[in-house]
Amino acid sequence: MSARKEAFGKTPEGRDASLFTLENDAGLCAQITDFGGIIVSLLVPDKRGRQADVVLGYDNIEDYLSNPPYFGAIIGRCANRIANARLRLSDMEYILSANFGAHHLHGGIKGFNKALWDTQTYSGNGIDTLVLSYRSANMEEGYPGNLDVSVTYSLNAENELCIDYEAVSDQDTVVNLTNHSYFSIAGSAGPAVPEIFDCKLQITADRFVVIGNDQLPTGEIRCVDGTPMDFRIPTEIRLSLENGYEQIAYGNGLDHCWVLESEPGRPKLAARLFEPSSGRSLSVLTTMPGIQVFTPDFSSMPVAGKHNAKYNGRNAICLETQYYPNAIWHPHFPSPVLSAGRQYSHRTVFRFSTDDI
Ligand code: GAL
Repeated sequence: MSARKEAFGKTPEGRDASLFTLENDAGLCAQITDFGGIIVSLLVPDKRGRQADVVLGYDNIEDYLSNPPYFGAIIGRCANRIANARLRLSDMEYILSANFGAHHLHGGIKGFNKALWDTQTYSGNGIDTLVLSYRSANMEEGYPGNLDVSVTYSLNAENELCIDYEAVSDQDTVVNLTNHSYFSIAGSAGPAVPEIFDCKLQITADRFVVIGNDQLPTGEIRCVDGTPMDFRIPTEIRLSLENGYEQIAYGNGLDHCWVLESEPGRPKLAARLFEPSSGRSLSVLTTMPGIQVFTPDFSSMPVAGKHNAKYNGRNAICLETQYYPNAIWHPHFPSPVLSAGRQYSHRTVFRFSTDDI
């Protein structure tokens, strides 16, 4: 076990970015850069023990500097949408940067996905660890409070990549951190990256957050019963994507937050994904109250990815653990407000195996 470090080019400010390699003896290997805390590659063995990279991304930092899909990145200060790019906290109104029409998305124009994070690495007891830390200054992208954030990636012998999110602020603020990896667990090498239609997906949720055709929550939380949003039993993604349900049209596929029965400090199973030809499966466990499941469609905007791959269809799925979108404006959603001096602490685990689900 080791946590190796190598050069990964320069940021626009001319600062050196690095690439860190975390690995275990069972064939799991993650490469993560301190630019945006991005998971650049994640090698995982299939049922025959053959490794493949299971995330989409780019070969070089230049492409990650713009990275419109947010491949692999840490998202913050607040993941997902905030309507009209406005916050009201302690009777004060704050104007955030608008980068999704009039709305705010994924922390704004220069979110945490574009920050160069400080790093520390550790290895021991079969665990490789990378700690990323960042101070988000008061009023960055419009958010109140100096926020000290740390995101710890640790890779263990049980084929788990664990992500611990910690933050503390000196003023009341909003915090909702996630990782934006695009999983292609059949393997993401080019030229043709398989689509996700044949993958089986399970989401351990009875309810989901309904969106309007502007992709913002309407406020309704709907039971999945009798809808193509019901993944309580592992179900082929195709069945849902090919269903004419209005919510699926609004999301151009799945782009919804499911409501989890979460518990602080105790990550619980939120979702599982299984790809039959490789036999790889991914379980997502989390302490977060929601999971945004996003099945991007690159057909209208093909992307030239790493390993000479072209992403031009439904080549991946994002499983983003988080507070619900626009939660700050829906008092019946779990609150993403972090009060001054209080500790934000969440954990998400990506666990790989070759067990059918
Ligand atoms: C997802 C979100 C999508 C889209 C994407 C970024 O988290 O659910 O609607 O904004 O990020 O391209």
